[in-house]
Amino acid sequence: MGLVGAGFVGPHHIDAVRRLGFVDVVAVAGSSEESARRKAETLRVGKSYGSYQALLDDPDVQVVHNATPNHLHYEVTSAALARGKHVVSDKPLAMTSAQARRLVNEAQRAAVVATVMFNYRGNPLVQQARLAIARGDVGTPHFVHGHYLQDWLLKDTDYSWRLDQEKGGASSAVADIGSHWCDLAQHVTGLEITHVLGDITTVVKKRRKPSGSRDAFQAGSGDGELVDIMAEDLASVLVRFENGVRGAFSVGQVCGGHKNDLVLEVCGAKASLRWRQEDQNELWIGHRDRANEVLQKDPSLLDERAREYAHLPGGHQEAWADAFLNVTREIYACIAAGPPYSALPPMIATFEDGFRAHRIVDAILESAADGGAWTRI
Ligand SMILES: NC(=O)c1ccc[n+]([C@@H]2O[C@H](COP(=O)([O-])OP(=O)(O)OC[C@H]3O[C@@H](n4cnc5c(N)ncnc54)[C@H](O)[C@@H]3O)[C@@H](O)[C@H]2O)c1
Repeated sequence: MGLVGAGFVGPHHIDAVRRLGFVDVVAVAGSSEESARRKAETLRVGKSYGSYQALLDDPDVQVVHNATPNHLHYEVTSAALARGKHVVSDKPLAMTSAQARRLVNEAQRAAVVATVMFNYRGNPLVQQARLAIARGDVGTPHFVHGHYLQDWLLKDTDYSWRLDQEKGGASSAVADIGSHWCDLAQHVTGLEITHVLGDITTVVKKRRKPSGSRDAFQAGSGDGELVDIMAEDLASVLVRFENGVRGAFSVGQVCGGHKNDLVLEVCGAKASLRWRQEDQNELWIGHRDRANEVLQKDPSLLDERAREYAHLPGGHQEAWADAFLNVTREIYACIAAGPPYSALPPMIATFEDGFRAHRIVDAILESAADGGAWTRI
């Protein structure tokens, strides 16, 4: 495995791959020789490269994890595919839908495992909810709702390349975390989002941009020039799924107290299910005619197919990194199984899923620009 981009999330890719136990972490590529060497030392990786091209030239690297800022996703992933390497791209797949569509085609031609990291799929209780809905435990769903709220961009001294449309893309909060919510909602319900009506806004319109680079989630000290922010940091979206199922979600990174507060609830004819990332070891089950329930993440209480993603007994909490590992494990099982890589298991988000996420983000921006018009995906 070779990692390109070792900022906030890159080291978690390495951590997950190391926990597999049968994959060597070979090299790290950074934006310069110096930063790559520093990261490789900290992460105890043998080789470091000052460019992703040099990492791709290394024959020992068979799988490339792309954890660079969004504006580099296309070129790194495209170059890796051209060399026949497997790719684990962090989300979003690219900067634009057009790039994402090209990557779908390039991945098909390369005939390798090509995936987008939608890691919340890997939580055992997310899989439990998915299986329960497919089995009909909640009845026919009619309302899918929730939010994904964070607070790390609340102050005008907070800054991320995500807010610079040249580096993050046209959308900030919707593409960055709204894409996770939409992917999860579609994965858990098995329903595709077909229409959206978006209302977006930029709450913090001017921010202090630091002169050097700053990893995600690091608070700023207030230095740097004041810059105008055009990308949204808050959005509310009405959603229609196939079969007319209704939905709604809000996303924002300016909501005090919400650290990584991803909530998905599905209401159906028989019952409701709710999963909250910040309390991810519990699944709420809502009833009309009897007391509500809370299902603990206890392997002995889970469906057989969800149980394999719970690695500890009940009461031993599992967390974000464990779900990330579960997705990584599925990906490497496919790679290890060898070609053809045509049918990936449902937990793995394909490049088609990544392209779809882009189209949803586009439609939300289009809808908002039209003053809140229903827009078809
Ligand atoms: N799946 C998730 O839950 C999740 C979480 C966070 C971030 N992400 C995604 O991961 C990607 C990275 O996000 P982050 O928060 O880690 O960002 P970050 O800014 O913390 O890290 C990006 C890293 O890439 C490095 N970099 C910049 N240019 C480079 C180049 N030319 N070659 C190699 N490295 C280069 C930077 O120096 C930095 O270390 C983004 O696309 C983001 O959307 C996903």
